[in-house]
Order: sequence, then structure tokens, then C-alpha cells
Amino acid sequence: MSTEILSSVDNRHKKGFGAISVPERLLLGPGPSNSDPSVLKALALNPVGHLDPFYVSLMGEVQELLRYAWQTDNRLTLPMSGTGSAAMEATIANIVEPGDTVLIAIKGYFGHRLADMADRYKAKVCTIEKNWGEAFSLEEIENAFEKYKPSLFGIVHAETSTGVCQPMNGIGDLCRKHDCLLLLDTVTSLGGVPLYLDDWKIDLAYSCSQKGLSCPPGLGPFSINERAEKKLNNRKGKVPNWYLDVSLLNKYWGSDRVYHHTAPVNMNFGIREALRLLAEEGLENSWARHRSNAEALWDGLQSLGLELHVPIDLRLPTLSTVCIPPGVNGKEFSLHLLNKFGVEIGGGLGDLAGKVWRIGLMGYNSRQENVEKILNLFESELPKFRN
Ligand SMILES: Cc1ncc(COP(=O)(O)O)c(C=O)c1O
Repeated sequence: MSTEILSSVDNRHKKGFGAISVPERLLLGPGPSNSDPSVLKALALNPVGHLDPFYVSLMGEVQELLRYAWQTDNRLTLPMSGTGSAAMEATIANIVEPGDTVLIAIKGYFGHRLADMADRYKAKVCTIEKNWGEAFSLEEIENAFEKYKPSLFGIVHAETSTGVCQPMNGIGDLCRKHDCLLLLDTVTSLGGVPLYLDDWKIDLAYSCSQKGLSCPPGLGPFSINERAEKKLNNRKGKVPNWYLDVSLLNKYWGSDRVYHHTAPVNMNFGIREALRLLAEEGLENSWARHRSNAEALWDGLQSLGLELHVPIDLRLPTLSTVCIPPGVNGKEFSLHLLNKFGVEIGGGLGDLAGKVWRIGLMGYNSRQENVEKILNLFESELPKFRN
């Protein structure tokens, strides 16, 4: 390749765009949710070096606060650079070895993603499936354990595609009894729904920054316990993904502080502030706030004659699926809310495409005024879309 400086620069792609201006949005969809203003302030601070003693001590604070949010003592708890899917892939990449039997419980879109990832890491993937809107019983999981004898079982706690919260009673004990590791997706539960990694005997977990934590997307909290670490240490081969190899990452996040990749320092400023706010509010209070706002939303929607897709005992406080009434074009209605009022709600995914709207009340956005706003919009605008 020539190193000669050409006499003229090709300006075809040089466009005179104005400075960025983002429309104001109230994000009441499946995520991202709006960030807390104080998190946005933290993100806008000047970066420091990723090995600066100030930053190194902030990393420890983020880890401690993540342990609180997840209710765990796990040493290996850190935010992966990347979104929830990066942390999801990190759990699989570190633990799965070719030929391992991995059982995935699929009851929505994200269970399929887990199964796909395990397959890419050459696991022998077995699945059990439920309709989108249902949860698994302990008995169904136990039967699958007898049949497949997995060494890793993966399940989604809060299925964002359906609005179902999977009851976790007994699953941890079952995994221990069968000498199987338990992997839990907590992307739509962390911060908003009761969650106890250690008490529930969860061996591997991941989450995201942009939902219950009120931070923008960009970090994927990740945590594994000693049982999972043991499997990792006994691997026959290297973790096949360099970027997500937690042994390498822990040389940076642990006491050695060896450079791995340039940390997204501002994202970590943001999540530190988000987690600090969660701790200040207290987990129990945050869970109760999410629950009471969700209940107000459910009551309001039902009094407008709308139906919720999920039975109340399985409903997620962070994400509600509302059945689109016959004759209404769900997509046109949500576009109307976005274009006319700057309010985002989500549509259905996969099996529920065209059948439900998804309304998120997560983190900073789980507040009474937002419940009132969306209910008022349904009341005034939906009749315009009914035939
Ligand atoms: C349950 C669940 N798991 C995983 C993901 C993937 O996270 P991300 O989109 O941040 O990569 C999502 C995203 O919404 C999710 O809802």
C-alpha cells in the first residue's frame, strides 16, 4: 500500500451534519429504559486512565455494589465491556467445553439465544420448551434432568419477550443434587425483582446496565461462584473467546491489575452511580416500588378493558405484556405514541409478534407519574385505533 500523501482528499463521505440533538423520549418499552439524570452526569465526566489509582479503586466499588445488587459473595463479579449478550456469551464461553451436555429451558426469545450460544461453543444442547407466557414447573425440569443428565442448566429468570418471571424455588437444590451448574439470565430482573444469587444456589449469572439499573446500555454484569470457577480451572483447553475469558479479565479486575483491554471508563462511572443509587434506595424498596407501580399499571389497563398476557402469579413487575385487542394494529398504535407523544412501548417478539405490546417500568422509569401517563395515553388514543 502506498504511504504517499495524495494531493487531494476524497470528500464524498464528508457530510456537514449538525451537532447531535436527540429527541426527548420516555422509554417504556423492553429496554433501554431512561437513565437516572445523576447517572448521565457521571457518564459525562472526563475519563481517567484505566490504570489510574482512582479508577482502580472505583472498579472495586462497582464490584462490591454489584455483589449487593445480586446478593452474592462471588469473588468473580464484574461488569463485562459490552451489552447483556456479551455477558451471556461470557458465561457460556468460559464454562462450556465441547461435548458438554447443556440443558436450556426455553419459554421465550432469550432462551433460544442461550441455546444458540451453547451450540456455537460445541455443547451437546438439549432443550425443553413451554408456550410463550408460561413458566416451568420444578417437576418438568427434574424430568428433563433425568432424561438428559446435563452438566449445565440455563434458564431465564425474567423473560423480556413474554413478561414471565420464572419461579426459582427448588431449582438450585435440584442442580446440586444432579451435580449440574445453574446459569441464570437476570437481564430484566436485576434491581427490579427479588433476586438472591447465593441463596438460590445460582452458579453463573449475567445482566445488563440499561434496565433495572437506570444506566445506558454498554455493560454486562457477570458473576460466577466457586463451583463454576472450579469447572473453569479444570478446562482441558483455553476459553475459545479471548475478549470474554474471565481468567484473563480477572488479572485486571482482581489484584494484579494487568492490562487486558482499555476499559470503557465512563460506562463504569455511570454504573457505579447507578449501583450507588440502588444501594441508597435499598434493594427491598426498589423491588417494592417496581411491584407497586406494575400493579397500578395492571389494574389501570384492566379497567380500560385490556387483558394481560401472563397470569398474575407469574407476572414480571419490570415488563408487562398487554394483549392487543382484535382489530387494532399494534404497530401503528405504538408508532403513534412515539411520534406524537415521544413515548416508546415495545411490540411482541417471535411467537408473540403482533399479539402483545410490551410495557417496561424499569429502574428510574418505574414511577407513578409514568404509570399515569401511559394509562392516560391508552385511554385517550387507543379508541382511535379500534375499528
Ligand atoms: C432476558 C434477556 N436476556 C438477554 C438480553 C440481551 O441483552 P442485550 O440486548 O443488552 O445484549 C436481553 C435484552 O433485552 C434480555 O431481555
